[in-house]
Amino acid sequence: EKAKAAVPKYLPAPPVDLNDPSTLKVLSSIFAAQFEEVAPDAILPASIIKRCDNPKFGDFQCSAAMPAFASLKNSGKPMPPGINGPPQLAQAVIDSLGKDHPVVQDLRLQGPGFIMCKITPAYLQRQVQSILDQKCLPKPNVKPVTCLVDFSSPNIAKEMHVGHLRSTIIGESVCRILEFTGCKVERVNHVGDWGTQFGMLIQYLKEEYPDFADNTPNITDLTAFYKNAKAKFDEDADFKKASQLNVGKLQSGDEEYMAIWKLLCDVSRMEFQKVYDRLDVTVYEYGESFYNAMIPPVIEEFEKAGKLSIEEGGAKCVWVEKFPIPLMLQKSDGGFGYDSTDMAALKYRLHTVKAQRIIVITDFSQGDHFAMCNQAAKDIGWVDNGQQLQHIGFGTVQGEDGKRFKTRSGDTVRLVDLLDEAVSRMEASLNERIDQGKANISKEEVHEVAEAIGYGAVKYFDLRRNPTSNYKFSYDAMLDTKGDTAVYLLYARVRFESIMAKAKTEHSVDVEDLIKNGEKIVIDHESERKLALQLASFTDVMEATLDDLFPYHICDFVYQLSIAASDFVTQCRVLGSPEMNSRLLLCYVTTMAMQQCFDLLGIRKVKRI
Ligand code: ARG
Repeated sequence: EKAKAAVPKYLPAPPVDLNDPSTLKVLSSIFAAQFEEVAPDAILPASIIKRCDNPKFGDFQCSAAMPAFASLKNSGKPMPPGINGPPQLAQAVIDSLGKDHPVVQDLRLQGPGFIMCKITPAYLQRQVQSILDQKCLPKPNVKPVTCLVDFSSPNIAKEMHVGHLRSTIIGESVCRILEFTGCKVERVNHVGDWGTQFGMLIQYLKEEYPDFADNTPNITDLTAFYKNAKAKFDEDADFKKASQLNVGKLQSGDEEYMAIWKLLCDVSRMEFQKVYDRLDVTVYEYGESFYNAMIPPVIEEFEKAGKLSIEEGGAKCVWVEKFPIPLMLQKSDGGFGYDSTDMAALKYRLHTVKAQRIIVITDFSQGDHFAMCNQAAKDIGWVDNGQQLQHIGFGTVQGEDGKRFKTRSGDTVRLVDLLDEAVSRMEASLNERIDQGKANISKEEVHEVAEAIGYGAVKYFDLRRNPTSNYKFSYDAMLDTKGDTAVYLLYARVRFESIMAKAKTEHSVDVEDLIKNGEKIVIDHESERKLALQLASFTDVMEATLDDLFPYHICDFVYQLSIAASDFVTQCRVLGSPEMNSRLLLCYVTTMAMQQCFDLLGIRKVKRI
């Protein structure tokens, strides 16, 4: 009865469930219940717990006393005896929680009424043991839905550039994060495979390779092909005219033109695939052309709804409130463009794929475009309650000089070259380590390990920051063995792994056997407690990640984890100590958790370095 009455007064007022993997939720429910005990008439806001900014003061802080006291005062209800300000209220809550609470300890009043607290080793032990028993970090408690992630999405006949690299790396990680929570994810490559540029490319191919039908031309360098075609298009009026006529032929499905178009797409596709193979990226092509037939009915739908406005020259447009330019569903010459395709794609994704969450990942400059598309879809009633549309707009990649990222000769950087460079630098550094006798791998293994670390380093360098920020591309920074890099993290993981290997060879203790025999983790030393605290924060980190889908939350988590773990193995002797078994298990959970984070970020496994 008491719990029922509490609902309208307390937010949250859930029962305390110590099995909930979210430390924030457990703490919120504990403190909410205690405030209810001390001041039954007070009202609490939804969020009352957060991590302490400074770990010196504690692990978490509760900020409920201030709003709770204010709510009592405003309601005119009688104050509980002895309470005349938030500090007294907070102190009363601290006193009523007592000294031997199963979850919180070292409770302290601070400032105008904050309650600082630490988490008990006993509670953390239980959390970490559960990770060990499940052999998996806890999955957040969310309803799995169908998601669609539109990422990578390069353009045919144009080189993939660093922007596409960002989209590819972020997109792959977003897919993995959603899949981890049990969501079904449609990985969509919205390749730019249609449009007026094909008229020009076809014309150029016909002129330069007249026997292309019998002799498939070997155009490995499509960028050069594109550049040359464009140069001719700009210089030669006849060429330009022929190109424009080609567009119409292609759009009407002319067999010869379709064949050339397909040939050009195939060449590009093979180039894109080289990047995807290097980066372990899986994405399925639904290029712009896939939506061609869906465009006219969409325009008709807007027309019937009275939402189409005919602009000067006859272009068919849709205005969206607050935007200075409309979406153009059909150009004045009758052609369809980027907006037309994206509206058709959106309808298909909402109604045919029935995706509950649609995420498009491009550079930030397309933010308005997607905001308009999404709003137009809502305005016409395509979006169901609960269907979520999101655009992740990332910042620019700059060279070390702070200008746009280019090669020394001023060309755009080819992604394949960029990735190869990361690998060859890593190879050099690994070979050096081998020569110095510092490495645990043979020369034959260098390439494979260098690939894992090199690609991992490029990915992590991008993923570890808020995607909306710009960054300077720097091999030296991303391949640094110290600091917040994949190189450091992979080395750290291998180091913990090697402690377990030594236990086996030098002490005949096999961690897998310890697990089989039901050996338990004991949290005692402060550095063990800190490590366990970090491990136990995973669910809260994951929940934050699911909100904005920024993989940097996971990067922060794994970086802090590796710092806590390094501190643990420095402060606590593992091998040969009386606590060896428990500590080995803690190493095991740590390496497993790190590996899971690497999987979420798309970073390959490295067994030895
Ligand atoms: N091809 C576009 C580009 O290179 C990205 C496409 C993104 N997806 C979309 N549905 N418009 O910028």
